[in-house]
Amino acid sequence: MYIALENITYGYDYEKPLLKDLSLSIDKGQSVALMGANGCGKTTVLKILSGILPLVKGKYVFDGTEITPQVLKNKKTSRLFHQRIGYVFQNSENQLFCPTVEEEIRFGLEQMGLSDEVIEGRVADVLALLHIEGLRHSVPYHCSGGQQKRIAIAAVLAMNPDMIIMDEPMAALDPRTQVLLLDILQQLHEEGKTLLIATHDIHMVHEMVERIVLFGEDHSLVADGKAVDIVQQAGLLKKVNLVDPHYHVHVHHHQGDEELHLHN
Ligand SMILES: Nc1ncnc2c1ncn2[C@@H]1O[C@H](COP(=O)(O)OP(=O)(O)OP(=O)(O)O)[C@@H](O)[C@H]1O
Ligand SMILES: [Mg+2]
Repeated sequence: MYIALENITYGYDYEKPLLKDLSLSIDKGQSVALMGANGCGKTTVLKILSGILPLVKGKYVFDGTEITPQVLKNKKTSRLFHQRIGYVFQNSENQLFCPTVEEEIRFGLEQMGLSDEVIEGRVADVLALLHIEGLRHSVPYHCSGGQQKRIAIAAVLAMNPDMIIMDEPMAALDPRTQVLLLDILQQLHEEGKTLLIATHDIHMVHEMVERIVLFGEDHSLVADGKAVDIVQQAGLLKKVNLVDPHYHVHVHHHQGDEELHLHN
C-alpha cells in the first residue's frame, strides 16, 4: 500500500476529536477526491497526509515508512518526505511568500539543490504549463486569487513530487483554466503520479479523479468508490449536504466526444 492511515483519531480540541478511528488507503498512481460539506474534515486529512499535522493516535504509513512525529521533526527525514509530497493549499495567499513569481517557483527547487540550468528549465516549463509566462516578474501577493492558485500549482509541480495533494484547486479558477487544470491532472495521472484532491465540484469531479472518498457532516466516511458511480447517488449526496435538493446527475466529459446526461 502506498498511503495508509490506520485507525487515526485527530482533533484540534483533545476533548472533542474531529476524526474518529479513521482508516483510509490509497494505491500508488491512484487519483482520489475527498468530498463532503464544509467542516467535514477534508483539509484536516490533507494536512495530516502532508505532514503539517503530526498524529498522536493511529498510524500514517507513506510508501513503507511510518510518518511519526520524530520523522517530521528530524531535518533530514522530514526533507526527504516533503520532497515526495506536493501540497497546494486551499488558500494560496498562505502559500506564497516570495517577492516575485519566478522566485516563488525557484525556492523549492533551490532547496532541492538542483543546478541552475535544471532550475531555469523547470521554471520555464511550469510557467508555460499553467499559462502564466506573463506573470514571471509579478509580485504573487498582488496577483488575483485565481492567478495565485496557478502560481501555487506551478511551484508545486516544478518540484516533480510523486504524490500531489490539492485542496479545492478548481474553486478560484475561471472556466478556461479549470479545463486546463483537468488536462494537467489527466497528464499527471498518466505519468503515474498519485493524486489526492479535496473538492466540492460534483460536476467535474469524475473528470478529475477515478475514486471518491465521501465524508459525512459528522466527519466519518460514508462512501468510497468509483467517481462515476458516486456522482450518481443523488440521495446520498443530498444527505451529506454536498448537492442542493434539485441536483440532477449530469455526467459531462470535457475531453473526448462522448457526452452523457443522466437524470434521476
Ligand atoms: N486550526 C484549527 N483549530 C481549531 N479547529 C480547527 C482548525 N482547523 C480546522 N478546525 C475545525 O475542524 C473542522 C474541520 O475543518 P476542515 O478545514 O478540515 O474542513 P473542510 O472539510 O476542509 O471544510 P471546507 O469545505 O470548508 O474547506 C472544522 O469544524 C474547523 O472549524
Ligand atoms: Mg477545506
